[in-house]
Amino acid sequence: MDKLVIQGGTALHGTIPVSGAKNAALPILISTLVSPGTHYFENVPDLVDINSTLSLLGRIGCPSLKKANDNGVGQKIQLDTSRIAFSEAPYDVVRKMRASVLVLGPLLARCGSARVSLPGGCAIGVRPIDQHLKGLEALGCSFDLVGGYIEGKVDHLKGSEVNLSMPTVTGTENILMAAVLADGVTTINNAAREPEIVNLADFLRQMGARIQGDGTSTIEVDGVPALRPSRSPFAIMGDRIEAGTYLLMGAISKGDVTLTNAPVESLKVILARLKDAGLGVESGADWVRVFWQGKLNPVSIETTPYPGFPTDMQAQWMTLMTQANASSSISERIFENRFMHVAELHRLGARVDINGSVAHVRGEDSLFGATVMATDLRASASLVMAGLAAEGLTEVLRIYHLDRGYESLIQKIRSVGGKIVRVPSNKNVESID
Ligand code: EPZ
Repeated sequence: MDKLVIQGGTALHGTIPVSGAKNAALPILISTLVSPGTHYFENVPDLVDINSTLSLLGRIGCPSLKKANDNGVGQKIQLDTSRIAFSEAPYDVVRKMRASVLVLGPLLARCGSARVSLPGGCAIGVRPIDQHLKGLEALGCSFDLVGGYIEGKVDHLKGSEVNLSMPTVTGTENILMAAVLADGVTTINNAAREPEIVNLADFLRQMGARIQGDGTSTIEVDGVPALRPSRSPFAIMGDRIEAGTYLLMGAISKGDVTLTNAPVESLKVILARLKDAGLGVESGADWVRVFWQGKLNPVSIETTPYPGFPTDMQAQWMTLMTQANASSSISERIFENRFMHVAELHRLGARVDINGSVAHVRGEDSLFGATVMATDLRASASLVMAGLAAEGLTEVLRIYHLDRGYESLIQKIRSVGGKIVRVPSNKNVESID
């Protein structure tokens, strides 16, 4: 087990390349199950969750090859989905990566059957998949719960009207990946609007799917008899959450950070809040720059589905607001337990009071280095941010969470002057050069 050790107080200055989006790559790689043949991808992030997905696809019968890019950012992937040996996602895979439930729709569309472990809860909430099942049932699928596994089957996928109770991201994706091969037209109402869904739809269209309205609340799919692999490699979009995280690291360290290969369009709400907070913000087609201008105003936020403020940036924003010149409030409206980072921020000296789904951040906190524990992917990132602003050394334990979603984190922070190292958790670090 490793830990991160961060020496606070250094302003980050320089340029960071944004990696491919984990939450676009996962559904896109899995969607190849609906299209037998060999698929090629570019700008795939090198992350634990990507490896887990390729390992799951391998167990299903679809081998893959990876080739790291020469510049050390991202990789190319070749994936062969010509044959399916097992239409199953076992518990030991799903419990480590909930997104494995995304094989449900594609396997039902390809094989007419699927056996997927119920994911169980996770640190940030219960995270049921009732909407996934409701949507797939509307397309003619039927499900039984047997020994903790969802066993699904369908004789004839038929296009239908699907009305989601909430704009679930992976729920929309699961239903979309089945609808592309259904007989007739499917309309998904109250669909999630995330850019990662548009990236998935772009990939499916490149294989011959007929999809309209992705990126809006109503997606219409005209099912086709079969899809075929795209003739040209497909590029995964940039990761807006990784990008937002580095912009906030630049802000909290009172630095000047520019991101390249950035998905600027999908960062609008984060850039707007950074401007409201008094940071300098400049951007172009695929780059964005955030720089310190001598003040940090309090900006209260409420997490909502895209295009609102992303829940995956909530912990990072809270950490930034501990340094604001007055108090602010953070409302978490998506998940029921996504304040696990607050207790850890308290250890660093932050004054944050929780009242139900709202956290009140006092601001003007002096943070002092301490040992803290990562609890989930995005909370871990907020603790690294706090370490950059804290006086002295901060140690972050259980950093396997970070390996799931931040490619080359240490290298990227060090490349802009951050003082951070990754060492075995029993190693004592007195200072960082
Ligand atoms: C996706 O999770 C992301 N994961 C999450 O990112 C992200 O936090 C989340 O969307 C919200 O933006 C991937 O894309 C792989 P939801 P997902 O279904 O699809 C409830 C990260 O850090 N709900 O949109 O699982 C659910 O409980 C991860 O990268 C139901 O009630 O989220 C939640 O309260 C963390 N029934 C809300 O909807 C369902 O059937 C939104 O969940 C489905 C969801």
